[in-house]
Amino acid sequence: MKILGISAHYHDSAAALVVDGVPVCAVQEERLSRRKNDAGFPICAVEWCLEHAGLEPADLDAVVFYERSMLKFERVLTSTLRAFPRSWRAFPHAIKNTLGEKVWVRGIIASHLGVPRDRILFTDHHASHAAAAFFTAPTRRAAILTADGVGEWATLTAGTAERRADGRADITLRREIRFPHSLGLWYSTFTAYLGFKVNEEEYKVMGLAAYGQPTMVDLVRKTVRRLPDGSFALDPEYFEFQTTAKQSYSSKLVDLFGPARGPYDPIDLDSRDGRRFADCAHSVQRVLEDILVDIAARLRRETGLPDLCFGGGVALNGVANARILAEAGFERVFVPSAPGDAGCALGAALYADRIYFKNPDRDVPDHPFWGPAVDADHLARAARQDSQAVEEHEEAPLLERIADELAGGRIVGWMEGACEFGPRALGHRSMLAAPHDPALRDRLNHDIKRREDFRPFAPVVTREAADRFFDLPPGGARLARYMSGVFPVRPEWRARLGAVTHVDGSARVQVLDRDMAPRLHALLEMYGHRTGIPVLLNTSFNVAGEPIVTSALEGYMAYRRCGIDVLAAGRTIVSKRATAAEAVKEAGAWSSNSVAASTAG
Ligand SMILES: [Fe+2]
Repeated sequence: MKILGISAHYHDSAAALVVDGVPVCAVQEERLSRRKNDAGFPICAVEWCLEHAGLEPADLDAVVFYERSMLKFERVLTSTLRAFPRSWRAFPHAIKNTLGEKVWVRGIIASHLGVPRDRILFTDHHASHAAAAFFTAPTRRAAILTADGVGEWATLTAGTAERRADGRADITLRREIRFPHSLGLWYSTFTAYLGFKVNEEEYKVMGLAAYGQPTMVDLVRKTVRRLPDGSFALDPEYFEFQTTAKQSYSSKLVDLFGPARGPYDPIDLDSRDGRRFADCAHSVQRVLEDILVDIAARLRRETGLPDLCFGGGVALNGVANARILAEAGFERVFVPSAPGDAGCALGAALYADRIYFKNPDRDVPDHPFWGPAVDADHLARAARQDSQAVEEHEEAPLLERIADELAGGRIVGWMEGACEFGPRALGHRSMLAAPHDPALRDRLNHDIKRREDFRPFAPVVTREAADRFFDLPPGGARLARYMSGVFPVRPEWRARLGAVTHVDGSARVQVLDRDMAPRLHALLEMYGHRTGIPVLLNTSFNVAGEPIVTSALEGYMAYRRCGIDVLAAGRTIVSKRATAAEAVKEAGAWSSNSVAASTAG
């Protein structure tokens, strides 16, 4: 059975294809359209998925949209009317927004793909998150927690899921918290207050939090009330997102925390305002963690299950995930590589396959690499046409060469196989560098990523060496498989891992198993032989403001435009030093030829 999953129209659209119960491919629209966080109908992603699998739309048994658009429309309409007259300005915007393509999804899918309308299905938004988290995790029974901004009405769900011995699978979401009470929207409101982009830059709040103190925890708790049953309720007086699309926080919130930060104001951590913003970020982060740990601990007690599958955009918060693992009582916490809405494309397809069509459960390969593959020949061709030196090596000498470059302080663009599904580079579209030198971190921040100094970079380490450098609790290596947890760097290594250790001594480490990315694993070992530390700085391969690169040509263009020293794809290497050395050699040959010519003359 061939099932296409689609998520679209909110942010970060994606498509995923499941054939006979197993994912075949999945990709975010932005990776192909090259528009960051592309929210449009994912036509490029759908086309690529079908082409990759050699299918025509007519071959599809079902196309599954990741949420029920009519219910979402009902929520927007109801909440806008409830807030009337305060919402009257927002009303036309909300209606235009939802009455457009968002509501008429069935017609849009039918017309784009030419599939019969009765083959188009819809799942609940949070069921898609739950399925993405559960069916991609190597567990048979687990507690389920999902948390995000909002789907149709739900903003957080909790329940259980099971793969049964008879091959059937169940997901039962027993509880839900409904809009406007939303941890995701609450955190996004503070993201906006702190001058960052909502739905995109929530992780900056987490990064800034490490510089602050919990001085505002009591103030933050005024905005979100804890209820006796473990859930929470937002105090609507501090928020405007339910009444207007223009601003998510109210003047009362500004009265409480002081003037908001403008998006272009620099963050000077030595100034009073800078410290106030850092303290606010710290306090918000702390309260988020406390609420999530409480909800997860309650779920653990109620279900008695040792595994938790956690999905939804809130599951991108690695500091909170690490605290859930450490404090809620679960032995293992699984967060998929794409816990946000993009991952719902895969979740919706898996949900339809296992639950709606009741197909027998199948194991899903335990890796995040479902996107288009890189073609090393394309890199070689582009570089040669551009008069750049191209080297082609056997596997071992190539890895030796790259390890030497990294040990020499060079920044390497590393492209390998199929690209990652989800927001993080996990070893197939990465920029790699030595982890010890803060100067390299600053060079990456200023010259390539053009981002704030307070933002940390993440390390990648081999599974075998992880415990030597990082203080991982039981289950920590699994959470770190997709960089979903933030853990302490062991104090004795912090100075020698200066480029990847955050100001509070932590790191969002990726723990790499050999079987997941064997070439990067081998490179880490070779780098370890040279330096004694099989750890590298690993950041996503993109330049400021652009999506992560997908093709070899995009990687090459990024390499030419910014301070990446070496670019590798498959067995091909392009390096600026080699090109410069060749140019010097050619200039030498040219001048000696000139001398010979003039002597002869
Ligand atoms: Fe969501």
